[in-house]
Amino acid sequence: MAALCAAMGLNTTASLAEGRDGKTVFTTCAACHLATGEGLPGAFPPLVNLPATFAKEGGKEYLISVVLQGLNGPIKSQGQTYAGFMQAFAPTLSDDEVAGVLSYVLTGIAKSPLAEATPVSAEDVAAVRKKIADKSLPSSHALRQQLDD
Ligand code: HEC
Repeated sequence: MAALCAAMGLNTTASLAEGRDGKTVFTTCAACHLATGEGLPGAFPPLVNLPATFAKEGGKEYLISVVLQGLNGPIKSQGQTYAGFMQAFAPTLSDDEVAGVLSYVLTGIAKSPLAEATPVSAEDVAAVRKKIADKSLPSSHALRQQLDD
């Protein structure tokens, strides 16, 4: 069976059965934020400096919120203003996939990557998803305002 799948080009690993891994999911994000995560000044903010955001109080919840709820600016990042719109991925990405893609952003493409392999867990994502369902989580934009010092 494994040989047949291999012959057909199918991946039979457990990670695929549970959902796509973070690096694979990131190809969706890369359409805007680029494969390097550097973004495009004025249009798509960079993701390479997000470990600093993650380290702030409420930072992890904010990052999960952006992927689940999307983001409607304006925001400032690295001296540039962004008044764009990012769609919500809550309907299309599982908790595992959101955790995987954010962990990949924070450890795989970041300028100063976090040492922990999976800084965002599926449980973290599930908790934020629940708050969104309860309508007890502010918009991503409001969360980001709270992070700015
Ligand atoms: C269609 C284009 C597009 C795609 C696809 C996209 N984004 Fe975004 N993203 C944006 C835009 C535009 C903004 C800024 C929105 C604004 O100005 O309010 C943004 C903002 C963000 C931010 C906030 C950055 C900050 O400095 O606070 C994060 C985090 C983020 N995106 C992560 C992701 C991840 C992870 C994915 C893939 C699951 C993704 N984005 C997919 C366009 C996109």
